[in-house]
Amino acid sequence: MTTTSKQIELIDLHPQAADMKQLVRIGLSRCPRQLPAWFLYDAEGSRLFDRICQQPEYSLTRTEIALIQSSAPEVANAIGEGVIIEFGAGSAQKVGPLLEAARPSAYIALDISAGHLRQATTALQQRHPQVPMLGICCDHSTLTALPEHPLLQGQRRIGFFPGSSLGNFEQQDAISLLRHFRTLLNGGPLLLGLDQPKDRSRLEAAYDDAAGTSAAFARNLLKRLNADLGANFDPRGFEYQAVWQAEQQRVQMALISSREQTVTIAGEAWTFSQGERLITEYSLKYSPEHAIALAKQAGWGWVRRWHDPKEDLSLHLLEATD
Ligand SMILES: C[S@@+](CC[C@H](N)C(=O)[O-])C[C@H]1O[C@@H](n2cnc3c(N)ncnc32)[C@H](O)[C@@H]1O
Repeated sequence: MTTTSKQIELIDLHPQAADMKQLVRIGLSRCPRQLPAWFLYDAEGSRLFDRICQQPEYSLTRTEIALIQSSAPEVANAIGEGVIIEFGAGSAQKVGPLLEAARPSAYIALDISAGHLRQATTALQQRHPQVPMLGICCDHSTLTALPEHPLLQGQRRIGFFPGSSLGNFEQQDAISLLRHFRTLLNGGPLLLGLDQPKDRSRLEAAYDDAAGTSAAFARNLLKRLNADLGANFDPRGFEYQAVWQAEQQRVQMALISSREQTVTIAGEAWTFSQGERLITEYSLKYSPEHAIALAKQAGWGWVRRWHDPKEDLSLHLLEATD
């Protein structure tokens, strides 16, 4: 289905309800239970994520925006010409300096959250009227190919994946995703933003802010399952927890069942015991060395990195190797 919103074209390839039900069945059969992180992003989830980015404890967004602004001319020079394709664009707040400095032939934003994507690209187009834009609502981890489109025809593809979104994937899945992006980018480079390990207290506060925004974001997953898949979760029956797991270099975010309770989803009953976890997402952190090793395992050559003064996070430039 293709729709237009003002000048922005949006191609909607969101997974169907039947596929979502199947993913929920698989995720709830896992031990511990865990759903793909993209389930967090319905319209309300996207709105709550933007609020998380404004919390004082969550510095990642502010730091990455400042890094991209200060390094945009160098980055533009290094990525070269072509069409910029952003994976999981969200509010598309970070690409602006690259659109100015790199003057790409077009900008294509991929995201799972259709309404939010439409708003974000429409606002971005108003700020950068010179760049042709397209939105694609999809799960980028399972998209077999980018749709055929005039904006992609004959253009070199430059991938942009900021926000440490790769950290939502466990290590083997992160390698598979990077391999998959290599195929989608058809030989073009990838600019990858990754958060680095830091103090436990800083990380746990960033993912469990005092205002309760991260907790609301996680609980919204249950509301989303109620609304979209006819489930009957009681979100108040689950406590939110964010824990730094040093061995795996990741923050685990989970909803903990505060009592034994049975939930029906799409006509199927699922019992949660007291204290049982439903993992809502992971956020894996990558030191520069670890990031380079990961990229190599996924068939990417590492070119260089830019980092903020405190070395909180890095932007890595990767190139496809034969
Ligand atoms: C952590 S947020 C980052 C947003 C933005 N890139 C930034 O750096 O602030 C992850 C974004 O990716 C989207 N997303 C998550 N999983 C996705 C998937 N499998 N396919 C497409 N989009 C996805 C979400 O809707 C959300 O906008």
